[in-house]
Amino acid sequence: MKILTVIGTSHIGNTRAIVDLFLNEFNDNNNEFDEIIIPKDFNDICYGCANCILKGEDKCPHYNKINPLIKKLDEADLIILATPVFVGSCTSGMKLFLDHLAYMWLVHRPKASMFNKVGLILTTAGGSGVKATTKLLKSNLFYLGVPQIFNYGITTMKMGGNYCDYKNKELIKNQVNKKANQIKKALQKRKVGIKTKLFFKLFGMTQKNGWNKVDVDYWKQQGWLDGKKPF
Ligand SMILES: Cc1cc2nc3c(=O)[nH]c(=O)nc-3n(C[C@H](O)[C@H](O)[C@H](O)COP(=O)(O)O)c2cc1C
Repeated sequence: MKILTVIGTSHIGNTRAIVDLFLNEFNDNNNEFDEIIIPKDFNDICYGCANCILKGEDKCPHYNKINPLIKKLDEADLIILATPVFVGSCTSGMKLFLDHLAYMWLVHRPKASMFNKVGLILTTAGGSGVKATTKLLKSNLFYLGVPQIFNYGITTMKMGGNYCDYKNKELIKNQVNKKANQIKKALQKRKVGIKTKLFFKLFGMTQKNGWNKVDVDYWKQQGWLDGKKPF
């Protein structure tokens, strides 16, 4: 099993601690781990040229840097998106990474591999924002085609430091263990839910009279406009 963590901060703090706690749960010889740390591994802001969507992903000005990272996403069985909450949302680092995946959304050119993955959203906040940030990242994975998405978030009520300093660390460990077991089961028995199937069908219908030739050609090439499905 390949487990890829995209962590939207280089800061070693609460978010790193929760990521490590989860990764520990998957620590056995059958699993391979990889990480994308933002901004360390990628720090280009999307210029908004929309070349990726309208002309092809290889026309993105950052193609050479982002494509190897997209390959990592492509190969992963479990994708973890982890971020602290900054002003009510994910970090700018996480956002700039996700912006570069816009062309892979269901409405454009989703990768077939995405429908066979499991996702996990991890968030940490000082006071509030876990819910909104989780919702935002969940929706990103959903629109990339990932059908089963789990989440875990903590509100530390404390800035800096590490959740391990807190008195509820045993509770957190137990919750992480429980969630990790649910994820392991989902990885063993992967399934595509009705919502993903419905959106795939809907966007397939829009492609039949599509406005963006690059997208329409892609759907045709996949055979998806002739009834073939990626799941
Ligand atoms: C720039 C900045 C903005 C923040 N904004 C929020 C916020 O909107 N809501 C909140 O509850 N905590 C906020 N926090 C606190 C962090 O979300 C919280 O401490 C988090 O666990 C830090 O993660 P880290 O230790 O991995 O860096 C903010 C922290 C920073 C540095």
